[in-house]
Amino acid sequence: MNLFFKTLFAYIKYFFGIWNEPKRYRQLYFLIGEIRAKNIMEIGTWRGERAKLMILEAQKHIPREEVSYYGFDLFETLSSEMMNAEFSKQPPLIETVRNELDETGARVNLYKGDTKKVLPEAISFLPKMDFIFIDGGHSLETVRNDWNYASNLMHERTVIVFDDYWPEKLNGGAKPIVDAIDKSAYEVKILPRFDVFIKPGFKRLVIKFAEVRKRV
Ligand SMILES: C[S@@+](CC[C@H](N)C(=O)[O-])C[C@H]1O[C@@H](n2cnc3c(N)ncnc32)[C@H](O)[C@@H]1O
Repeated sequence: MNLFFKTLFAYIKYFFGIWNEPKRYRQLYFLIGEIRAKNIMEIGTWRGERAKLMILEAQKHIPREEVSYYGFDLFETLSSEMMNAEFSKQPPLIETVRNELDETGARVNLYKGDTKKVLPEAISFLPKMDFIFIDGGHSLETVRNDWNYASNLMHERTVIVFDDYWPEKLNGGAKPIVDAIDKSAYEVKILPRFDVFIKPGFKRLVIKFAEVRKRV
């Protein structure tokens, strides 16, 4: 398929995708547009669907080949034990996701493995990021690790968004880590659009995004 049709299909899927997603995700695209994000990092790439939508949004403002995406996930190495420990979803093979994201024409960099191991190894090679979406493992240890490394990749205008801020639960998700962020150094906002799911065992789960910026 030539580039024109690939791009056309990517945009059709983009508009279809955006209108079918839970509504909190629109805030991601709004922020990416607002800050004209060029270097985008996602912890928890999963199937690459959100990655693609974030890249396409960035490419509305910046030439497509100048957008860089850095995605971290366990991909095919996710074991069933880890899936339970991280309250995770099963991701596809890294190559499947790479092929899908390469269609955008952005510079796509994927990292496979547990972020508690991979981020310490990769951190010195990574550039400062404009936008970081933290949505990987959901154990406290992993969210704390992901925030520690992500915060080291911030420049003065970087925006970090945490998924899975569960306001009605005392423990679990990103809330304990977000609530403990030093408010004298960072501006922390809980974003207004949220989703409500009724899940067995959870009863009602409210999911919000938390946005973090450096105080300058
Ligand atoms: C909720 S899904 C991410 C969804 C994706 N951000 C989206 O919006 O489409 C969580 C992902 O995090 C990955 N993950 C879980 N624990 C991880 C860990 N310790 N290190 C790296 N990735 C992890 C899982 O493999 C899964 O694909």
